[in-house]
Amino acid sequence: MNQSFITQSEDETISVGFQFGETLTPGSVVALFGDLGTGKTRLIKGLCKGLGVAEHVSSPTFTIVNEYHGKCCKIFHFDFYRMNSITELKEIGFDEYIYNDGVCVIEWADRVEKLLPPDRFNVFLKLGANENEREIRIEKIGDTKS
Ligand SMILES: Nc1ncnc2c1ncn2[C@@H]1O[C@H](COP(=O)(O)OP(=O)(O)OP(=O)(O)O)[C@@H](O)[C@H]1O
Ligand SMILES: [Mg+2]
Repeated sequence: MNQSFITQSEDETISVGFQFGETLTPGSVVALFGDLGTGKTRLIKGLCKGLGVAEHVSSPTFTIVNEYHGKCCKIFHFDFYRMNSITELKEIGFDEYIYNDGVCVIEWADRVEKLLPPDRFNVFLKLGANENEREIRIEKIGDTKS
């Protein structure tokens, strides 16, 4: 089911992420699309809480992927903002992560769009009408359950 939200603070975005995270299951892939500062990492913070992650969640700046431990499974947090080539993707074995039993969340998913699995969630984030407003749309693509 597709869902749209308008949030007025980072806490509200975290809470959207939390509720979404609670619905995810092992193997879920979540691709996030949105410019700098639109709230991708904040949403993932909530999503991870919803999956029972107790570890600190922040963008993997010096590596491409961060790994957390949730109740159902591992969560792999990718950020492709600084990715330079598809070779880097092959080096980290991206396919093995996304076709596996963890939950994968991907910032800057447009940079790897061709490699994303057909069954997934797309999350679009945009700046809203004022400084702290964000528009968030969650779309289910393919047959992903939940
Ligand atoms: N409604 C809101 N939802 C989320 N973040 C908000 C909101 N209002 C203001 N903010 C601020 O916007 C910023 C969002 O940062 P965040 O790191 O989550 O964005 P991002 O999309 O991951 O950016 P990047 O592309 O740099 O990784 C934070 O500084 C946060 O405090
Ligand atoms: Mg981020």
